[in-house]
Amino acid sequence: MIIRYSDFLDLKYKPSRDDLVCLFRIDPAKGFSMKESAARVASESSNGTWTGLDVPEHIRDLSAKCYKIDKGLAWIAYPLELFENFNMPQVVSSIMGNIFGMKAVDALRLEDVKWPKKLIKSFKGPQFGIKGIRKLLGVKKRPVTATVPKPKTGYYPDEHAKVGFDAWTGGIDLLKDDENLTGQDFNPFKKRLATSLKSMRAAEEETGDKKSYLVNVTAETNEMLRRTRLVKESGNDFVMVDLLTVGWAGLQTLREETGKLGLAIHAHRAFHSTFDRVPDHGVSMKVIVEMARVIGTDTIHIGGMGKLVGGKREVGDNHLKASSKSNKPSSGVLAQKWFGVKPLMGCCSGGLHPGIVKPLIDLLGPDIMVQAGGGVHGHPRGTHYGAMALTQALEAIVKGKKVSEYAESHAELRQALDKWGSTIPK
Ligand code: 3PG
Ligand code: MG
Repeated sequence: MIIRYSDFLDLKYKPSRDDLVCLFRIDPAKGFSMKESAARVASESSNGTWTGLDVPEHIRDLSAKCYKIDKGLAWIAYPLELFENFNMPQVVSSIMGNIFGMKAVDALRLEDVKWPKKLIKSFKGPQFGIKGIRKLLGVKKRPVTATVPKPKTGYYPDEHAKVGFDAWTGGIDLLKDDENLTGQDFNPFKKRLATSLKSMRAAEEETGDKKSYLVNVTAETNEMLRRTRLVKESGNDFVMVDLLTVGWAGLQTLREETGKLGLAIHAHRAFHSTFDRVPDHGVSMKVIVEMARVIGTDTIHIGGMGKLVGGKREVGDNHLKASSKSNKPSSGVLAQKWFGVKPLMGCCSGGLHPGIVKPLIDLLGPDIMVQAGGGVHGHPRGTHYGAMALTQALEAIVKGKKVSEYAESHAELRQALDKWGSTIPK
């Protein structure tokens, strides 16, 4: 039986529970109807090609089906058998493979994915999730706080550790490496880990609070695992990874190792804007968030309505996919059930300071990590007081008080507001 592009369109098809469903926004190229472009996308991402082929019935059964088209959106269902369990690179090569370069589309956006239970369950999912992270840090209701030393690179290990000490003792829970700080000569991984943890223990002693260090293990895979084991041997409980630059295979390997070692994973999304910034092409951030949740990081950057693009809707959708037990469909969003997979803690970051964190908690609630680099270290009196100011702003919000009023009795917060007001940085 000959299989052609047109066989990948079946508007009467009802997706089964086990199908993986993709929601694509399609801008058909000149000369193509929406149906023709959508059928080509379904074909190239499952088992078709540009010419008719005579194939046996069992191969036809594996074809994806575009089953709904509405206002530039196409719903495509993929049989579960197309995917290999516990192999995220293979899933990416399918539903995010050749299709973005097809001449039949001018632009193509993967808006959302509905992940079937069997595929989800073949992965580990988060080890700690929101509850686990809160328990680990002993932080009950307020948002978890983090800071990243600025400038992002250049500090020697002892300088980095001193910034950490000042931030931790100012009330911040987590010191986080920046995305491009790994093991450069000026700040080697092993030395930085040792000096920062020494500072961390001193800060824990001084404050009586539990602290942790999101140390960036991003590297070639074997080296990443060596660094991860060193983190465990050194007595820390967190690693940080740039999930997109190490790639999906690297992330899965890291998740296996941290599972054995009992370490939490913080995921930085460096690289995402190369494919999620242009609204009608590429892959949305909420899909990346879901993939991180399926594989099993414990926290992930979801945007913060600060210096980086991405408004309320985008940050809200990312948070929904990170943390809900299930979600209903809405515009550009497919329904998803998580079948008990732990929720991820969204990390809001990028140009945040005490004067602009309130809208984030109003939008997302307190189950988030609030992360500020410049908004802590750029305080008029330096890191320690900047950490106090951020802590005070969140304290005010959680207590239901106005940040500006709280500042009247909290000098550090007052100084931060005097400097930055409620300006959203660019
Ligand atoms: C991050 O990695 O999230 C950023 O480095 C945050 O830095 P900023 O708060 O200074 O923008
Ligand atoms: Mg950064």
